[in-house]
Amino acid sequence: MTLYNLGKTCLKFASTSSFSTKVNPKTAIVMINMGGPDTTDKVHDYLLRIMTDRDMIQLPVMQDKLGAWIANRRTPEVQKKYEEIGGGSPITKWTKLQGKLLCEELDKVCPETAPHKSYIAFRYVDPFTETALEEVEKDGVERAILFSQYPQYSCATTGSSLNTIYKFYKKRTFPKNLKLSLIDRWPTNQFLVKTFADLIQKELKHFPENIRNDVVILFSAHSLPLKAVSRGDSYPSEVAATALAVMQELNYSNPHQVCWQSKVGPLPWLGPFTDEALKDFVKQGVKNFVMVPIAFVNEHIETLHEMDIEYCHDLAKEIGVEQIRRVPAPNDHPLFIKALADVVKPYLNGGKKLSKKFLMRCPHCVNTNCLHSKKWYANVCQ
Ligand code: FES
Repeated sequence: MTLYNLGKTCLKFASTSSFSTKVNPKTAIVMINMGGPDTTDKVHDYLLRIMTDRDMIQLPVMQDKLGAWIANRRTPEVQKKYEEIGGGSPITKWTKLQGKLLCEELDKVCPETAPHKSYIAFRYVDPFTETALEEVEKDGVERAILFSQYPQYSCATTGSSLNTIYKFYKKRTFPKNLKLSLIDRWPTNQFLVKTFADLIQKELKHFPENIRNDVVILFSAHSLPLKAVSRGDSYPSEVAATALAVMQELNYSNPHQVCWQSKVGPLPWLGPFTDEALKDFVKQGVKNFVMVPIAFVNEHIETLHEMDIEYCHDLAKEIGVEQIRRVPAPNDHPLFIKALADVVKPYLNGGKKLSKKFLMRCPHCVNTNCLHSKKWYANVCQ
């Protein structure tokens, strides 16, 4: 059994949201993500913000009180996990690097909208979304592109961040000369697909040639409560679309399965769950796997702890897996930076403004924030 282990370094970062030495940016690229605590002392507040966000999770009663109670209870256990991956989440480091490389690429290929500058807009931890928007405003850019770092859209992740941006501007005047564009999803971008295909092929090379084509490719993504799935959240179908596009790129060289991880709480979530799928595949006689973090564009707790330690090391050893290798997240893979630039380019000159799909609500959406926020984006994106 081989554990694919990535560097467990953890750096500490300042809470500023923008990363560029350029003085007068013309175009802002706002990198949207839920974020992750880069030190363990931020874990409690991070969990508290998640558990009290009704766009992310709907607790049955008293969201504020129950959410605070769950956050308090879960903090020590989550802190321990962050300690085990080096003391914090590397997501700020990766997003900062991705933004920098993306802007360098855009400066080269689209000089007419340069200089481009990236801003990190995290939902639950610093650098916060609100700080990023204030900095965009202060910098006086001509166009800001809100760019979700989730290739597959979910109302719980990208949707929650976009509702936050709407609420931020509800309380203040939208800058008069600012043009806004919104990239809400990009699940089948050709370079994203090629990135995953390349990373998978590199891992497959570590298996003996006689079994290489029988290794099961296990695409694993963060799960969702079944309630959200039944409401019409498009995330499961978009994750499946990415996985299938990757398999097509690989010419269906191997058997594959999409599965889901990171369930929390007692309510039913979307399965099959990654750990249970592994156990039952082994019972069926399948012993070799490549695990792919198909909905994560950079390393964080779900890849470094859940996949590497809990599944690929502890569980694999316990159930008798022969070899399992975890594909790295796209991080700074050159094809991935190309993907980011390829997604952004059509929005730079206002050719594309936002997707029609974003303007639709889930068929069973009961969240009035979604209603008002989508109307607002329809008006303001130009
Ligand atoms: Fe999906 Fe409101 S919950 S649009």
